[in-house]
Amino acid sequence: MTFDRSIKIAPSILAADFADFGAECRAVEAEGADWVHVDVMDGHFVPNLTFGPQMVAALRPHVCTVMDVHLMIAPVDPYIEAFARAGADIITAHAEAGPHTHRTLQAIRATGCKVGLALNPATGAEAAEHLLDLVDLICVMTVNPGFGGQGFIDMSDKVRRLRAMIGDRPVHIQIDGGITPQTAPAMARAGADVLVAGSSVFKGGSAAEPAGYGAAIRAIRNAAETALPGRIA
Ligand code: DX5
Ligand code: ZN
Repeated sequence: MTFDRSIKIAPSILAADFADFGAECRAVEAEGADWVHVDVMDGHFVPNLTFGPQMVAALRPHVCTVMDVHLMIAPVDPYIEAFARAGADIITAHAEAGPHTHRTLQAIRATGCKVGLALNPATGAEAAEHLLDLVDLICVMTVNPGFGGQGFIDMSDKVRRLRAMIGDRPVHIQIDGGITPQTAPAMARAGADVLVAGSSVFKGGSAAEPAGYGAAIRAIRNAAETALPGRIA
């Protein structure tokens, strides 16, 4: 994985066909996805359950781009190695998942995976201030985590603050939740470069008829890129 700040679209398979994840991952990649976003939920940190490391390991051969694993679990530390062994490229843990986020991020780094830190809507940018040299990605939640298809919460002010704090460090800003061609532009302008999109990508197609996935990915990308400084709207 090389670092750049170009706009990257990461479809979240939370909105895909759970009976056919392999085909769904292949389909979104063929249709232009830059990363594949994998949401792990424990029914404790968030009020919903998805799947664990065995499912992530089963998905690995079907993901050729970047497997971006978003852990919405607490405690998180005891499971980090299992998700790394499952083949995650990036492991993101929540600042709210425990009292020792610094240790959690060190533990992710020790596995060799890229390190992500996620912030719930109620958590301020300052939560990341002393962690900036430990991370490769900050995920700004634009919904309260737990479910796909929720309404977007504008976090552009937080993204702008994080972008300023990050400075020249090679750290991505990801936004996650409620991302559409309508909500993406302001976030891209504020400094987000990785856009997670679940329902807005997967609702318009299927693995058998994937053209709708491509159209949705292109629509989000174009809307975000057009909003960047120096672009003509
Ligand atoms: C929310 C998840 C998101 C979610 C996004 O808890 O972390 O990744 O799947 O889905 P949409 O795009 O439908 O809001
Ligand atoms: Zn997510």
